[in-house]
Amino acid sequence: MSDTLEQFEQGLAEVASASTDAFQGRTTEQALREANAKLVGPNGQLTKLMKLMKDLPADRRRELGQQANALKQEIQAAFDASLEGLAKAAREAELTGPALDPTLPGRHARRGRLHPLTRTIHQLVDVFLALGFDVEEAPEIDFAANCFDKLGFPPDHPATDMQDSFFVQRPGGELDVVLRTHTTTIQIHQMLQRKPPMAVICPGAVYRRDDDATHSPMFAQIDGFAVDEGLTFAHLKGVLTAFVRRLFGDEVPVRFRPSYFPFVEPGGELDMGCVFCEPWKGDAGRTRACRVCKGTGWMEILGCGMIHPVVFEAVGIDPKRYTGFAFGMGIDRISMLRHGISNIRLLYENDARFLGRL
Ligand code: DAH
Repeated sequence: MSDTLEQFEQGLAEVASASTDAFQGRTTEQALREANAKLVGPNGQLTKLMKLMKDLPADRRRELGQQANALKQEIQAAFDASLEGLAKAAREAELTGPALDPTLPGRHARRGRLHPLTRTIHQLVDVFLALGFDVEEAPEIDFAANCFDKLGFPPDHPATDMQDSFFVQRPGGELDVVLRTHTTTIQIHQMLQRKPPMAVICPGAVYRRDDDATHSPMFAQIDGFAVDEGLTFAHLKGVLTAFVRRLFGDEVPVRFRPSYFPFVEPGGELDMGCVFCEPWKGDAGRTRACRVCKGTGWMEILGCGMIHPVVFEAVGIDPKRYTGFAFGMGIDRISMLRHGISNIRLLYENDARFLGRL
């Protein structure tokens, strides 16, 4: 009994002394609450002490209980006062500190939109859909055979070189898979699946070991082709001329130049009048000074030609019965021309400040 009494009285004295400056120098609400909990929280010093009360000698219980309660109230009052002091100080600082400027413009959430390349793809696809083409996709990682051999590339063609293409090492050790270097692979995939007549376009990412102002290791292309009985170079010219005029305007001139691609015969390239100096408007001085077409008045935009019989043979279509035409172009290049951008990287760096202006 007397042990409890002694322990209680001593404890009470300790709590009383601890409580005198328990809240001093505490400048956050969190610190104040922690100090308070040490004394009167569920595991606080005073709380523990009060649990001993029932073991006190009966004649002292009432008096000591009152003392403990009084101490608890003091602590509560000191805690409340400290909290209030803290709030006052914060309010004071707000009132005497720098004024809030209500005229500052607010921060708007910025509205996103489609990337310029995506918009160009949509425009190109729309034009070809209107001309009766279907849109299909082909794998970005493909067999080298679909990318090169079946398209008539000889085994020693530079494109089949490791310097020019990204080959993928397969677990078996074979090097027969590549990141496709062009979307022309669509011809193989679709001709194996469909029966003529067919007209298909394929937009998508392609990969080459190229990296400078006008070449990025990954870029976007769109290829198209049509196969039917009786298709001629006239159909090719008609479709591609309509395409250029739909996209760049009815007055833009086009010309076809002979060129070589292993999967077409005859093969060609299409040039269109430079949309920066607009030579068809007759200002020869403007064309002479044009840096985009280097004074020629023409811009090269795509490769094209009549599908080579070796391609038909590779996919089991009879080249005596069917003919076809094909074309392919860089979408980045079209996008750059439409927006007057000179560095391809600007399309891939994803700087919203730049892209938002296109
Ligand atoms: N695949 C060629 C390239 O990557 C472009 C091309 C040329 C595609 C002629 C064609 C074509 O379909 O007929 O440069």
